[in-house]
Amino acid sequence: MTERRKRRIEEVLSKRQHDLVLVLEDLYKEHNVSAIIRSADAFGVLRIYVVKEGEFRYAPSVSRGSEEWVDVIVTSSIEDVLVELKGKGFQIVATYLGEGTVRPEEVDFTLPTAIVLGNELEGVSEKVIEISDVRVKIPTIGMVTSLNVSVACGILLYEAMKQRERKGFFRERRLPPELYEWMRKRWMENT
Ligand SMILES: C[S@@+](CC[C@H](N)C(=O)[O-])C[C@H]1O[C@@H](n2cnc3c(N)ncnc32)[C@H](O)[C@@H]1O
Repeated sequence: MTERRKRRIEEVLSKRQHDLVLVLEDLYKEHNVSAIIRSADAFGVLRIYVVKEGEFRYAPSVSRGSEEWVDVIVTSSIEDVLVELKGKGFQIVATYLGEGTVRPEEVDFTLPTAIVLGNELEGVSEKVIEISDVRVKIPTIGMVTSLNVSVACGILLYEAMKQRERKGFFRERRLPPELYEWMRKRWMENT
């Protein structure tokens, strides 16, 4: 491995945010999941939980290799994931198109945060709404009332990145030392 590549791995990894995770609830379009993985990599997300019955598939032409650099955990119970994350101190931010929502800039994304994105047809489940601490809606002014899920994800992650940047989160490494070393080793092996 070249020194340049090694430095790049260390630089990117030192900006990874272990306390900003995505939870995808039963998304069925591979290209959406893949676009989300790519945005997660771009905006520094370390981990995505894919809640799904059956096999997890993605579209390599859309993810463009980003699945190598984001931890994807496939699980079948949304409740278990959210309860576990809550227990670890994460606020659960549900994306929601109904009543009682706030705008993205009103969410404090500098807190440990799990953003829950919903199914392409039905959105997030009642269970997610029940467990969530915050419901967020990106305002729109078009005829179609919702955004594509991967677009919504990109907008929220950009907001999270801006807030974290303002607080200096990218100036120094945020991963705990053991996790950083473990990831570094894995990423070197990937290369
Ligand atoms: C196509 S939408 C689902 C539409 C569904 N009929 C509903 O009422 O939620 C799929 C997912 O994209 C995200 N999404 C779409 N538009 C959004 C918006 N304006 N604000 C926040 N999230 C949005 C949410 O995660 C949503 O569950």
